[in-house]
Amino acid sequence: MALILGLESSCDESAAALVTSDGRILAHRLAGQEAMHRPYGGVVPEIAARAHVEALPPLIEGVLAEAGVALDQVDAVAATAGPGLIGGVMVGLVMGKALAFAGGKPLVAVNHLEGHALSARLIDPDLDFPYLLLLVSGGHCQLLLVEGVSRYRRLATTIDDAVGEAFDKCAKLLGLGFPGGPAVEAAARGGDPKAVPLPRPLLGSIEPHFSFAGLKSAVLRAHRSGRHPVADIAASFQAAVVDCLIDRTRRALPAASGATALVVAGGVAANGAVRSALQALANAHALRFVAPPLWLCTDNAAMIAWAGAERFAAGLTDGLDALARPRWPLDPNAERARGAGVKA
Ligand code: KG4
Ligand code: ZN
Repeated sequence: MALILGLESSCDESAAALVTSDGRILAHRLAGQEAMHRPYGGVVPEIAARAHVEALPPLIEGVLAEAGVALDQVDAVAATAGPGLIGGVMVGLVMGKALAFAGGKPLVAVNHLEGHALSARLIDPDLDFPYLLLLVSGGHCQLLLVEGVSRYRRLATTIDDAVGEAFDKCAKLLGLGFPGGPAVEAAARGGDPKAVPLPRPLLGSIEPHFSFAGLKSAVLRAHRSGRHPVADIAASFQAAVVDCLIDRTRRALPAASGATALVVAGGVAANGAVRSALQALANAHALRFVAPPLWLCTDNAAMIAWAGAERFAAGLTDGLDALARPRWPLDPNAERARGAGVKA
């Protein structure tokens, strides 16, 4: 049994966690920065990086104290090394390196996306490879066949915005505040999902890629028309997103024929409408559906510690010269999606 300390700092959550290789979460703590970024309507990279510098040390001390563990007893230090906002990634990675060096422990430089991708195995020890993963976060919208630790086949990606980004932009357009996903979901509860006709970009197209930019523009037009209550636009937007996610995931199923389960991960997996539609899709195709609890869907360090534990068990540790990588695809061999903009 190995004990892993995990650090996360790739966006606007500073987090530390202690997780064992047999899947016990001994302690996990998180300091969000929402209040700092709210006045700007989005995450400001420089503010985020500075906040991680202040937040991480007490979080690390806190999880060690809570678990009654000394740094000496930790078997490896796992830190997010990308992708994400480079300043924040560097802060967490350098702290992880310093702790690894001071304690004479191996470092595991974790891909944040692998943290999301493997998080379902932390709560479901029976989840075997391969599985089909819908990874939906603020920076990503991908369908991946997870074949093993460090082994990913990207089946689809977004050709423009990530789905969480679409939620955040929609919230901003509708004046619902930041962060947008939970705000849109809350507003949608009081609205009619059929009230506003909105497009479903790429619905039915052969390759299972995603697109959300057109949907965002349609939300803006609907809002400007002054004809629809905000709740109806939010509900209709969420319904359109769900339709796109389900259609695209269904389209990817043939390429994932050996999959043991359909898994969802990333911040947007916290959305109730998304979860229940995916559950129904999995049921219809006799697939197991695994969705981590809400706190494990949004950014956290338990998933980084867990990915660290899986990599450590596979002998995948890193030197202290490991680089911070603002861009770091899980499947480096994936072809560029046709029609994709710069961000894909
Ligand atoms: O995975 P995550 O915490 O950070 C990234 O790695 O991006 O995802 C954050 C994204 C944000 O865009 C946020 O608006 C979205 O997840 N999100 C949601 C919900 N909760 C968070 N989107 C829709 N519904 C939610 N309930
Ligand atoms: Zn994330």
